[in-house]
Amino acid sequence: MGMPPLVIGLLGSPLLNGNTAILLDRALDGARDAGCETEKIAAAHLDFKPCMEIFYCVENPTCKLNDDMIPHLEKFRTLDGLIVASPIMTMGIPGGLKSFIDRFQVFFMAKYVRKSPLVPAEKRGSRKGLFISIAGMALPSVFDGAKMTVKAFFTIIDCAYWGEILTNDMDHIHDIQKRPDVMEAAYRKGYELGIALGGKPLTSPKQGISDNPT
Ligand SMILES: Cc1cc2nc3c(=O)[nH]c(=O)nc-3n(C[C@H](O)[C@H](O)[C@H](O)COP(=O)(O)O)c2cc1C
Repeated sequence: MGMPPLVIGLLGSPLLNGNTAILLDRALDGARDAGCETEKIAAAHLDFKPCMEIFYCVENPTCKLNDDMIPHLEKFRTLDGLIVASPIMTMGIPGGLKSFIDRFQVFFMAKYVRKSPLVPAEKRGSRKGLFISIAGMALPSVFDGAKMTVKAFFTIIDCAYWGEILTNDMDHIHDIQKRPDVMEAAYRKGYELGIALGGKPLTSPKQGISDNPT
């Protein structure tokens, strides 16, 4: 039997048990039930610098800044699915997550400048990304900036923009547990992502998971 697909959950919220984190956990539960291996990264809790424009990566397949980002840059070469989960802050993604993403200039230079992509050829056409986001305001355009950033990131690391779950107007709700429809959608999308990546499900998707949190 081959290795199960690897799905990484990248959390943009500083809150490890906030609404965004709860939705990400639901989606990762779904991916696991669909037979994937999962890992979670909390960008706001890593110790790394933003891109300093040293341009070492113009000629080298890694980054000169020797910090917490280095193992993550390695890991992102081989993942199969990526779930980015982020709140909206000041009409975009939070700074910690943006700095994490900016460090993938290493992938940009390899792909577009040296034409020597860091993502293995056999994975390039099949990697898939899901974007989960929450915003406080009811404004329809509140996700526009974040979506542009996440789509650019997915393109740079060869992940198709496969799906999204965008929930606005959260300032009126506060507690995501009061939106079982969104909780269910996160689990379902995670499960569907796992299947789309070729996961061999261990169980059929759980029903009514929002009433029966694991
Ligand atoms: C610093 C900061 C800036 C924010 N800016 C926005 C904003 O521009 N638009 C918006 O709709 N919500 C904004 N929000 C609200 C968050 O998106 C909302 O509270 C979200 O539910 C937080 O998710 P979390 O608890 O999982 O981190 C902001 C929140 C913070 C803390």
